Order: sequence, then structure tokens, then C-alpha cells
Amino acid sequence: MLDPQFTAYLSDWLHLLLRFLHVVTAIAWIGASFYFVWLDNSLEEPPEWKKQKGIRGDLWSIHGGGFYEIAKYQLAPESMPKHLHWFKWEAYSTWITGALLLTLLYYVGASSYLIDPIKAALSEWQAIGIGVATLLGGFLIYEAACRSPLVNHGLAFGMVMLVLITLIAFGLSQVFGDRAAYIHVGALIGTCMAGNVMLGIMPAQRGLVDAVKRGVQPDPKPALMAKLRSTHNNYATLPVLFIMLSNHYPMTYGHEYGWLILGALALIGAWARHFFNLRHRGIVKPWVLISAFLAFCVLILVVRPAPRVLPAQTGSLISDAQAVALVQTRCSSCHSATPSDDVFTAAPSGVMFDSAEQIMRMMDRIEARAIMTHDMPFLNKTGMTDEERAQLGAWIVSKREE
Ligand code: HEC
Repeated sequence: MLDPQFTAYLSDWLHLLLRFLHVVTAIAWIGASFYFVWLDNSLEEPPEWKKQKGIRGDLWSIHGGGFYEIAKYQLAPESMPKHLHWFKWEAYSTWITGALLLTLLYYVGASSYLIDPIKAALSEWQAIGIGVATLLGGFLIYEAACRSPLVNHGLAFGMVMLVLITLIAFGLSQVFGDRAAYIHVGALIGTCMAGNVMLGIMPAQRGLVDAVKRGVQPDPKPALMAKLRSTHNNYATLPVLFIMLSNHYPMTYGHEYGWLILGALALIGAWARHFFNLRHRGIVKPWVLISAFLAFCVLILVVRPAPRVLPAQTGSLISDAQAVALVQTRCSSCHSATPSDDVFTAAPSGVMFDSAEQIMRMMDRIEARAIMTHDMPFLNKTGMTDEERAQLGAWIVSKREE
């Protein structure tokens, strides 16, 4: 049998590999999405001879040392080309690698990543059940909304989805660890996006190809619906990326109102995307982007951490030896060259608190993760108290003043 340390080591490599593949496939997918939205919005009226061939949009570009001539057909060309590129595996492989990552990190590692016993004493299977049910339920709600009349009212549809996402983030934040709540919202949006490709866009395109092959006039309705779903995906790109990245920044998910911050970030992201979508159509409204940026700045100010408790207010200051002992009791079960934790058998992120010198060197990060936010100890596995945080915080301030 492999020894546990080697297994943990291999599993870290697997995480790294999956994360890498997830990012690469997502770049390919979102890159293609950005490119085609830009392309569609930048098409110009073609010359008469092209129009006669059924071409509705004309575009010239230069890239990588060559000219490209692009023609978009009104609905379809007269005959099927020999090779047709579909752009679907970018979406599917992003979803598959994402689902594997979620499973490996949050479901296989449910006890350490998903469950926060202070919020809800769930068993592993209960927590996994809630996670999977949220993804499935959320996806079904979205699909139902796409088949309802609401879908024809873009702004209202967007607003309803935003409210739903925020409510789901709130619900999850009541039962899951903060990070797990965020990542599930990201995964839900990603699932709806991949679902759009599979259930909306691909069937419409297959219908189109089929009609061309049979030489009949294609039905324009599914194609319009596919375009709409592709627009939904386009607006979701920036929010979903921001939510995924926020998972590395506790001032977002770890905040008391983390779920509301998520909603605000999604709104700002979609609004910023709107600027680019307008600009591609030749409508330049700088205020859309500027107001998105200003809203972002306001958010940063509004959610800033409360002023810190100073030494005078907490009573006596702890000594250096007490501070070191405090960090070692609460943190070194994971953050050590020889961790004693059952799950984290190698120091997470390479951070170790074995010596006073190591602790002093990491003071700023300790403050950021354990005092400004309560993100560490990880899911407060070692039961650090608020009083201990205040004492340690005061000690860090006093060290800085020395
Ligand atoms: C149960 C295990 C565990 C305990 C206990 C724990 N951590 Fe962590 N720590 C982690 C994991 C996992 C990561 C990597 C993921 C991350 O960065 O959030 C991490 C990462 C970190 C990082 C590196 C990332 C950065 O922001 O620079 C710091 C600093 C940190 N922890 C500080 C602490 C402090 C301070 C304590 C004690 C108050 C503590 N940790 C207790 C598991 C733990």
C-alpha cells in the first residue's frame, strides 16, 4: 500500500493537473465566446455579389501575419462544407474538469472542505447531497426559466437570475463552509452555461445542419433561441470568473455578508461585460464601465473590516512566548514540517509555524487570515476563540510598533 504521506503528495499533483486543465479549457471556451460575440457584433454589410450568395455579414481581420475573410450566412450556405467546426468540447471539457475538481476537493474531502460544524453538523453524505441537489435544482430552475416567457425580457430575466443566485449563496452560506458556498454558486453558473451549449445551442445547430443537408429552409426559431442562450453565457463569463477567483480571497467569501458580496460582484461583472457588448456594436458608453468600476470601489470600502481591537481595550498584552504558543496550538497541527492533522499531511501552501522566527515572518498573513478575517484555522478545526484572535491581533500590532 502507498503510505498516507505519498498519497497526499500524489493527490496534490492531481489537484494541480486538474486545475491546470480546468483553466486551460475555460480559457479556450471563454476565449471562443468572446471572439464570436465580438465577431457577430462587428459584421458589416457585404458587397452585392456576396449578398447574392446568401451572405449577410462580412468581416476582414488580420492576425498572426495573415488576412482572414469571414462571411456569415443569413441562415445557412447552399451546400454543406466538408469540414465544419463546432466549438462544443471547450464547454464540455471545462465542465468535466470542473466537476472532477469539485468532487475531489469538496466531496472526497467533504469533512475538511465542505462541512463547517459550527454552522451545521452535517454528515458527509448529507453535505454532498445538499451540494449536488443545489447544482441540479438550480440548473432545472434556469432551464425552466429559459422555456418561460420571461426569457424574452432580457433585463428582467437577468435580474431574476441575479436575485436567485444571491439567495442560493445565502442558503448555502448557512450550511456550508464559506468557500464551499462560493464555489457551489460558481459551479452552478458554470453548469447552466455548459447546459446552454448542450441543450440549447447544439440542438439548434444540428437542426440547421440537418435542414441544409436535406435542402429545406431551416426553422429560424431554434437558432434565435441558441443566440439568446449564447448571450446569457456571455454575460455570465465575468461573474463566474470572479466568483471562482474570489475563492482564494477571504475578504470576499469569509465576510459576514459574503453572499451579498457575491451578488454584488456578479452584478458588477455582468454590467462591465455590457460595456464591451455595446462597444462591439459601435455604441460606446464609457459610463457603463466607469460606473462598474466605481461600484466596485464602493464595494471595497463598504465591506472593509471593522477597526481592530487595540491592546488597551483587551487588557494586558500577551508575551512573545505566549503568542508563539498560541499560534502553535491553533495552527501548527496543519502548518508544520510534521503536521498532526488527519487530512493535511503536508504544510498547506508551504506555510509552517514551527519556530518563533517563522511566525514573525508570516505576521502579516496571520493577521489577514486569522484576525482581519476568521478564515484560519481552516473551518476553525482547532477551535480558536474570538478572545485569542483579539489577543494575537493586539500582539501583532505591538510587534509592528516596536
Ligand atoms: C485544519 C488545518 C489548518 C489549520 C489548523 C490552519 N490552517 Fe492555515 N491553511 C490551511 C489550508 C488548507 C491552507 C491552504 C488554502 C488556503 O490558502 O486557504 C492554509 C493556508 C494558510 C496560509 C497561506 C495563504 C495565505 O493567505 O498566505 C496562511 C497564512 C494560513 N493558512 C494561516 C493560518 C493560521 C494563522 C492558522 C492558525 C490561526 C492556520 N492557518 C490554521 C489549513 C489550516
